[in-house]
Amino acid sequence: MGLVSNQRRSRTETTHEGLPATISSGGGAVPKKKWSNLMTLFVVLVVIAEIAFLGNIDMAKNAAMVDTLTDLFYRSRVAVEGGDGGGDDSGLAVISSVQNSEYESCEEWLDREDGVTYLRNFTEEPVFVSGAGQKWDSCSVGCKFGFNRDKKPDAAFKTFQKAGASVLRSMESAEYYPDNNVAIARRRGYDVVMTTSLSSDVPVGYFSWAEYDIMAPVKPKTESALAAAFISNCGARNFRLQALEALEKANINIDSYGGCHRNRNERVNKVEALKRYKFSLAFENSNEEDYVTEKYFQSLVAGTIPVVVGAPNIQDFAPSPSSVLHIKGVEDAESIAKTMKHLAENPEAYNQSLRWKYEGPSDSFKALVDMAAVHSSCRLCIHLATTIREKEEASPGFKKRPCKCTRGLETVYHIYVRERGRFEMESIYLRSSNLTLEALKSAVALKFKSLNHVPIWKPERPEMLRGGNELKIYRIYPVGLTQRQALYSFSFKGISSLVTSLRATLLRMSFTWNWHGFIVH
Ligand SMILES: *[C@@H]1O[C@H](CO)[C@@H](O)[C@H](O)[C@H]1NC(C)=O
Ligand SMILES: *[C@@H]1O[C@H](CO)[C@@H](O)[C@H](O)[C@H]1NC(C)=O
Ligand SMILES: *[C@@H]1O[C@H](CO)[C@@H](O)[C@H](O)[C@H]1NC(C)=O
Repeated sequence: MGLVSNQRRSRTETTHEGLPATISSGGGAVPKKKWSNLMTLFVVLVVIAEIAFLGNIDMAKNAAMVDTLTDLFYRSRVAVEGGDGGGDDSGLAVISSVQNSEYESCEEWLDREDGVTYLRNFTEEPVFVSGAGQKWDSCSVGCKFGFNRDKKPDAAFKTFQKAGASVLRSMESAEYYPDNNVAIARRRGYDVVMTTSLSSDVPVGYFSWAEYDIMAPVKPKTESALAAAFISNCGARNFRLQALEALEKANINIDSYGGCHRNRNERVNKVEALKRYKFSLAFENSNEEDYVTEKYFQSLVAGTIPVVVGAPNIQDFAPSPSSVLHIKGVEDAESIAKTMKHLAENPEAYNQSLRWKYEGPSDSFKALVDMAAVHSSCRLCIHLATTIREKEEASPGFKKRPCKCTRGLETVYHIYVRERGRFEMESIYLRSSNLTLEALKSAVALKFKSLNHVPIWKPERPEMLRGGNELKIYRIYPVGLTQRQALYSFSFKGISSLVTSLRATLLRMSFTWNWHGFIVH
C-alpha cells in the first residue's frame, strides 16, 4: 500500500509522491563501480555547540601519482580498510616531491601547485537532470531539472533518458516494489538509486525539520486509553495485525481511529489526537531497514511514545535512547505491553522517555534529520557533479597534483574538506609531525571557523536546536560512503588505522631516506 502520503508538503521530498517506483532505463554513463571504488574524498560532520553538521574531506586525488608509500594514505579505499597496501617503492619519489623554494611555506606552495581548474564550471553549465520538475530554491552546485529534450542530460528519470546516468527515485517500501531494493535496482541498470534506504546513493526520507514540528511541546495525557492507533489497512504483509491483537489480548486499552479494529468514529486531526495519548502505535506495513514513515515522525511531534512495528533498525531513528518501544516480533508484544503499563503507572519513568523533548535529541538524531535540510534533488546534483569531477580527475590528461610537500623531515599534506550537503571543497593542511585524528579535526574546525561558515541546516532546525556559532567536529567520512555507513558504521577507528598505516609507512621510508643520504637523526 502506498504510504507516500498526501500529508507530505513543502520543501522536502515532494517529488513523485504517490507514484509507484519511478523507473528509468539505463543510460549508463556514470560508471557506478568506478565511483565507489575511487572514494578519494572525505566528508566531515561538524557539531556546532552540541549540534551537528556535516562536511567532507577530499584526501587528495591523484591516484595516478601514487609514487610513494605515503600516497597509499590517500588512496582511501585501501586506507579505510585498514591496510597500508604494502609496496616497495624507493625513496626517490619522495625526494622528487621535495620542492625547491626556500621562501614560501609548504602551504603556499601546495596552494599554488596543488590547485586545479576543472573543465566544467557548474555555475555556467549546471548539472541537468531530465524527467522531473524543479521544486527547490537553491543548491550549492548548479543544478537544473526539466524536460528539455534537446539538451544532453547528465542524468534522467526513465521516460526522458537518452544519455546520462539513469536514476530511480521512489519512497515506497521494497517489500511492495522490489525494484526499490538497492541491489535489484543496480542489477536493473540504475546508476543512481534514491530510496528511503540510507544505503541508497541519495536517500529520500520521510523526515525533515521543515515537515514535522519535532520539538513541539508535550501536552497533558488526558485520554483514558493507553494508546492510539491509526491503521487504515489490517492486511499488511508484516505482523502488524497480530501485534495489535496481542496488545489487546494483554489488556492494553487502544483507541483505534483507522479502518483496522476501529472503535473511535470521530474524525480527528491525527497529530492533535495523538498528543492526548501516552503511546502511539506506529505500525508500518513492512519491516524494512530505514523504511520509517510519517506514522513514526508524527508520534514524535505529538510527544507520545511510539510503539513501533516496522524497520528493524528503528533505534537508529530514535531521538534518544529508550524513547521508542519496538515490537520486533509478535512474541515481543506481551513484554512490550508490560513496559507500557509500567511507564503509564510511573510518571517519572514515563517522563524520562520524553526527556529529549525538553533537552533536545541526540547528536546522532540531529545528524540524521539534518540530511533532509538539503532537498534530495539538490543532493542528487551534488552526487552527479562529484561523480563528474572524479571522472575528470581519473582521466589521463588531468593535471598531476603533488598533494604533499616535503621539507627536510616534515611533510605537509593537502586535504580537501566540504560540509555534507555542499559541493565545493576547502583546503586544509596536515603535518607529518602531527598526523593524528585530533589534528585533523582541529584543522577542519579551524578552517570552517575562519570562513565564518554557517551550517547548511541552520535555517531548517527548530530554534531551540540551532545552538551558537561554535564549531565541533562530529564525524568525518570519505565521500562516496553511503549515509548508512557515514552515520552508523564508519568509525574513527577507520581513520586512525589509516593514520597508523601511514605512520608505519613513514617509518619504513625514513630508512629509505637515510639510504639516499638524507639526514635521519
Ligand atoms: C564559474 O563561472 C562563474 C560565472 O561565470 C564565475 O563567476 C566563476 O568564477 C567560475 N568559476 C571558476 C572556478 O572558474
Ligand atoms: C518532565 O520533565 C521535564 C524536565 O525534564 C519537566 O520540565 C516536566 O515538568 C516534567 N513533566 C512531568 C509531567 O513531570
Ligand atoms: C597536534 O594537534 C593537536 C590538535 O591540533 C594539538 O592539540 C596538539 O598539541 C598537536 N601536537 C603537537 C605535538 O603539535
